[in-house]
Amino acid sequence: MPVDIQSDRVVLHHPAGASTTILLYGATVISWISPSISGTSAVPVTAEGPALVERFFVSSLASLDGSKPVRGGIPICWPIFGQPSREENKALKQHGFARSSVWKYEETVLDAREGVSGRFILENSDQTDKLFPHPFKLVYTVTLAEHQLTTSLRVHNTGSAPLAFQALLHNYFKGESSIAQVQPLKGVTYRDKVRNMVEDVETREIVDVREYTDRVYEAAGGNYTLSFPRSVHISIKTHNLPDVTVWNPQETGSSMADMEPNGWAHYVCVEPGYVKQFVELKQGEEWWGQQVLTVL
Ligand code: BG6
Repeated sequence: MPVDIQSDRVVLHHPAGASTTILLYGATVISWISPSISGTSAVPVTAEGPALVERFFVSSLASLDGSKPVRGGIPICWPIFGQPSREENKALKQHGFARSSVWKYEETVLDAREGVSGRFILENSDQTDKLFPHPFKLVYTVTLAEHQLTTSLRVHNTGSAPLAFQALLHNYFKGESSIAQVQPLKGVTYRDKVRNMVEDVETREIVDVREYTDRVYEAAGGNYTLSFPRSVHISIKTHNLPDVTVWNPQETGSSMADMEPNGWAHYVCVEPGYVKQFVELKQGEEWWGQQVLTVL
């Protein structure tokens, strides 16, 4: 069954063996499994064909029951990233409510070898109106190909007043953080959350997270490569998501109740977003942002 619709999740299956699981809670992608690529992966190709490899980290202590945002996969940060920076958003919690709201599965958009694709919807409700008094409709489309996962977020302003928001796709990529490499970010201005939001310019060709890292790179170019040398290489291409956060808490991660012991050693977050500024939509306008993740 290429699209398996369950009560709390949807699983997309691709004929080449790839699959992805999306919880209705937060429309959070909690798994992306795809075939290893011969020659670039440490995982051997066996007589049965390429091994299937999980690409996302989800903490074994993460809650998947809708009680709190998932510690792993791809939580969606909307309508803000981080703590509220504007007075009008002060009722919102860190990273907004999209990641902790229950979305609806609207429909299967594509079911073919080129891609298997499903669409999720979140609209304002009495609950969101109390925190964020703006009518909106979010459409999140997840498309799976043999070696690729594409996620697209479309935002419609369905109200009459302007709608201002930030958006970010909080990817937790699975791999040893001690060897993770992200590039190209040299010359890009960033805000360092570890150093009280100080502004600085990246000087390294290759960014690593061997130390506690929490940097918001601004207008970063939109296309990146994440490598775990001799293991996995992932290309991240984006549309309308100009900024990117690179986060790994190292030992400070132990203060998170849902982080498994040493969990931070097994992932790096590379999070494309529109977060330096706010997108401003007038009545009836829409915006979309997209990331295309490809295993190289
Ligand atoms: C990152 C932020 O995107 O998310 C970090 O830059 C934050 O500052 C991290 O700690 C995790 O946030 P949360 O709310 O999921 O614990």
